[in-house]
Amino acid sequence: MKILLVGKNGQVGFELQRSLACLGNITATDRNTLDLTDDDSIRSVIQALKPNLIVNAAAYTAVDKAETEQDLAMQINANAPKVIAEQAKQLDIPFIHYSTDYVFNGQNDKPWTEQDQTDPISVYGHTKLLGEQAIIDSGVAHLIFRTSWVYGNRGNNFLLTMKRLATERDELSVVNDQIGAPTWSRHIADVTANIIAQAKATKDVTQFIQQHAGIYNLSGAGETSWHSFAKAIFELLEQQGEQVAKLNAIPTSAYPTPAQRPLYSCLDNQKLHQTFDIKLPDWQISLDLAF
Ligand SMILES: NC(=O)c1ccc[n+]([C@@H]2O[C@H](COP(=O)([O-])OP(=O)(O)OC[C@H]3O[C@@H](n4cnc5c(N)ncnc54)[C@H](OP(=O)(O)O)[C@@H]3O)[C@@H](O)[C@H]2O)c1
Repeated sequence: MKILLVGKNGQVGFELQRSLACLGNITATDRNTLDLTDDDSIRSVIQALKPNLIVNAAAYTAVDKAETEQDLAMQINANAPKVIAEQAKQLDIPFIHYSTDYVFNGQNDKPWTEQDQTDPISVYGHTKLLGEQAIIDSGVAHLIFRTSWVYGNRGNNFLLTMKRLATERDELSVVNDQIGAPTWSRHIADVTANIIAQAKATKDVTQFIQQHAGIYNLSGAGETSWHSFAKAIFELLEQQGEQVAKLNAIPTSAYPTPAQRPLYSCLDNQKLHQTFDIKLPDWQISLDLAF
């Protein structure tokens, strides 16, 4: 199986290079070899390679910057997935893509299901939702994994930022009224590989994915606030003998950002479990493993 992996240097993309390696021959691209702002670049790479499966881990993920770079975010998060989906449909191959908890407005008190009404409150969330819709509308065999609060050991993420600030600063304030579920990038990649392996076992990957086509929530189990997430990171640092900053809890109103974020964005992972028999562990367990 020839797999085209788009976005090989991102948090999830990097992990996918390892997780997908045993499933086929991977061609992994970065923005120099496949630029998502250039439709012709997308088409020519896909047409030259003629892969059997496309996995897109690339996205415009700068949530705050997206508020002022709307066109670029739209191109990468909405238009590019549409073009990839059209190409995949033409080749009759499946397309795996990732989306976000930020498609919801955060006004809920229980985990969001795949059927719940979307209502993004940021440009990033809006463009990601349009990307989802374009893929579905194309009729391609697809899986869209909605994930949340992604962290890992490379790239820009909360874990690495907290690790750095914990030792650089004397005191740090983190919001405690946004609730969600941290998800380790490696687990997202491993779940993706597991599902592709399930598809391969049926001998017809496209048909398997077509039969299971849709959106799936894929996030760490449990829930926390950014403040409690930071506290857990600080505790792990202390266990390693580090001296850490004093950690304060503040409301979102005390930390204004260009983009609004959902207050409650936990995802209900039951569909993933019922369909593919896969469950991610509690977020604290994953954090321990990733640390
Ligand atoms: N990060 C989160 O907290 C989070 C939460 C929910 C959902 N998600 C979703 O999960 C998926 C993976 O996210 P991630 O955190 O792994 O992302 P990431 O670490 O920010 O990586 C994004 C990747 O996209 C690539 N990219 C950006 N613009 C591009 C372009 N014009 N052409 C080609 N590649 C381009 C980047 O390339 P460079 O390395 O060259 O910049 C980077 O490798 C995305 O769909 C994201 O929306 C993420």
